[in-house]
Amino acid sequence: MTAARPGHELVTDAQLKRYAKLIYDVAGVEISPQKKQLLSNRVRRRLKVTGIANFEDYYKKLVSLPVTDDEWDHFLQEVTTHETYLFRDDSNWNWFRSEYLPQLVSEARQGKRQKSLRVWSAACSTGDEACTIACCAAEGFASQAGWDVKVIGTDIGVGAVREATAAKFNERSMRLVPDALKKRYFDDVKGEPFWTPKPPVRKTMSFRQHNLLDPLRERPFDVVFLKNVLIYFNTESKTRVIENIKRVMSPGSMLVLGAAEGVSELLSGYERIRPWLHRYTNSAGSPSGKAGV
Ligand SMILES: C[S@@+](CC[C@H](N)C(=O)[O-])C[C@H]1O[C@@H](n2cnc3c(N)ncnc32)[C@H](O)[C@@H]1O
Repeated sequence: MTAARPGHELVTDAQLKRYAKLIYDVAGVEISPQKKQLLSNRVRRRLKVTGIANFEDYYKKLVSLPVTDDEWDHFLQEVTTHETYLFRDDSNWNWFRSEYLPQLVSEARQGKRQKSLRVWSAACSTGDEACTIACCAAEGFASQAGWDVKVIGTDIGVGAVREATAAKFNERSMRLVPDALKKRYFDDVKGEPFWTPKPPVRKTMSFRQHNLLDPLRERPFDVVFLKNVLIYFNTESKTRVIENIKRVMSPGSMLVLGAAEGVSELLSGYERIRPWLHRYTNSAGSPSGKAGV
């Protein structure tokens, strides 16, 4: 067997197993044996930056550090996917803008609800989803003064949260933002190739670090967006996440899922409205998809 060229070495099968267990225990993300090349490439990048000699020593370094250490954050950023952009999955946003928000406005007009909206963008990456929510809410409530909107974005990555807080979006992230909304709710950052939400939109958003495997200490939300994160989780870690999400939902609140979250079997207590949209009913033992639509 020929040795790999320097800089192209792969983790051994035993190392892959150990790294995979470590990542699973900390973030709930599964690394399959097919990801050997990918994991090796990503860890190699950290070896280069840290000057640590090999995969074995880097593993030892990680286990010696608290998961709050910066190196853990860099490592997790390397091994998780961060792809995101504004107005991703237009069916979600058509529902949110054309059905959900108008319904809230109408209920508030009839005195059936407070003028308040709380939304959680769970696993928000760089905040594009949270910014989409905030921008749609600004548009949806433009005809009625006095709405209190709070959009909370969380992610396991401290670096991602930092970027989300900076709220600078490049042309690629902005490509699906409807022109009218771009003009009304975003400023072109002077001298930089970025757009940023205008202050009234921006002030409705806040971000913080949070691991979905842990409960979030927050009052219940009206809507939770949980998209494009559980794809790499297994049933055990998905179940833990779904239980944590339930703690911050109250009857009638909505859960918006990504197309491949793979949790429909785990959604007891939810009414399936669309494959990606579920209303929390708190009716224990009624698996999603079997309750009335
Ligand atoms: C592909 S992005 C999804 C962004 C956004 N929700 C969207 O759909 O456009 C996935 C994000 O999940 C985060 N993530 C992975 N495991 C996590 C965990 N255990 N807790 C919180 N966030 C996690 C990653 O850091 C990454 O930013």
